[in-house]
Amino acid sequence: MVDVTEKKMDNPTFKSDTVLSDVHLYCPNKRHLMVRLNAVGQPVFLSYFKLLWNTEDLASEKHVREATTEREHQYRSGNELCDKDRNNLKTERELNSEGVEALLDDDGDLEVVRRPRSASDLEAEDLLRDRVYPVVLMKGKEDAFEDEQQECTCSDVVKIEHTMATPLEDVGKQVWRAAFLLADYILFKRDTFRCCSVLELGGGTGITSIIMATVAKRVYCTDVGEDLLAMCEQNVVLNKHLMEPGGGEVKVKELDWLKDEFCTDPEAPYSWSEEEIADLHNHCTVIMAADVFYDDDLTDALFRMLYRITHNLRNSCTVYLALEKRLNFTLRHMDVTCEAYSHFRNTLSDLENLQDRKIKYTVEPVKLDFCQFLVYERIEQLELWKIIAEQLT
Ligand SMILES: C[S@@+](CC[C@H](N)C(=O)[O-])C[C@H]1O[C@@H](n2cnc3c(N)ncnc32)[C@H](O)[C@@H]1O
Repeated sequence: MVDVTEKKMDNPTFKSDTVLSDVHLYCPNKRHLMVRLNAVGQPVFLSYFKLLWNTEDLASEKHVREATTEREHQYRSGNELCDKDRNNLKTERELNSEGVEALLDDDGDLEVVRRPRSASDLEAEDLLRDRVYPVVLMKGKEDAFEDEQQECTCSDVVKIEHTMATPLEDVGKQVWRAAFLLADYILFKRDTFRCCSVLELGGGTGITSIIMATVAKRVYCTDVGEDLLAMCEQNVVLNKHLMEPGGGEVKVKELDWLKDEFCTDPEAPYSWSEEEIADLHNHCTVIMAADVFYDDDLTDALFRMLYRITHNLRNSCTVYLALEKRLNFTLRHMDVTCEAYSHFRNTLSDLENLQDRKIKYTVEPVKLDFCQFLVYERIEQLELWKIIAEQLT
């Protein structure tokens, strides 16, 4: 008899209204194997996202050589090397043999990812992107995570469970590029966030909160939907080894922008205790959100939530909003537009111009000239905004 779960896993179906994050698109196909189905029958994948903690190490010839050897091992530990793998390795060895300088820019900074400019750049790009990939686990193997946990507890890998393509209402189950951008900024500005209390809105898989908790004291990672929050909590468990050294923690909680109150129902799995709400209000100084501006009603709801929370905080607070402008051609405008982005910018201006006795909101864009710790394409549509919510009384 064929196991139903096994059968479903062999034939994942993606509905026509599904959306797929580019972050996953760049993963090589051969690495796309799923680890299980979630409670609602969606295939779940586990990806290892490498953190380039020490760019000097990465730039060193030693590291470059090791990376090639490591990848050679990865290829060999699967089935036989296919021709494409062999060619990739050959090209990579050739690239590496050009020396460390090939990876450094004019100032000596490491260039992790370059947008393709020529055929040879394209090849190099592919090899660099290969560093981000879902890891192949055995289907149906119950203790797969335990094995992986033992093998990989190194401080330079974030392990994230996610789904690969989802209907719009489940987008939080994928990792989005803006989450990487925000994570980069956190790692770049580590000292700014050290030991603080943080609230993430629409945290999705939890990747940004997990990165934040490597330096911050406590991060409330919030979102909606039991299934998503369970996946997020699983990711927090998978990455304990990254947070423990600094004593940071992530608390996964439900926080619906469309509701006025925190969920405090003790029967609800991700509800808040009164102590946690008080802790948030008394200590939170940073609020962050990545890729949450894609629907005007939700944007309005999120800004209302921001207003409410900042007014309840004891201290002034800084809000970081990372986003990716998504351009669409619309027949209505007969032009390429980005309506969700325009609505976001208008709402941002409204917040800044608000005449409020208690809080003054100051908005500024953050220059994206900080280095990359994660491997993804830092496309020009990415933006990071900083709002200082200063208590006036
Ligand atoms: C595009 S995803 C971004 C997820 C994650 N921040 C990332 O960048 O990978 C948008 C997130 O907003 C969350 N969201 C949507 N509506 C929400 C609401 N009413 N309250 C709280 N979160 C919401 C979704 O569940 C999802 O996790």
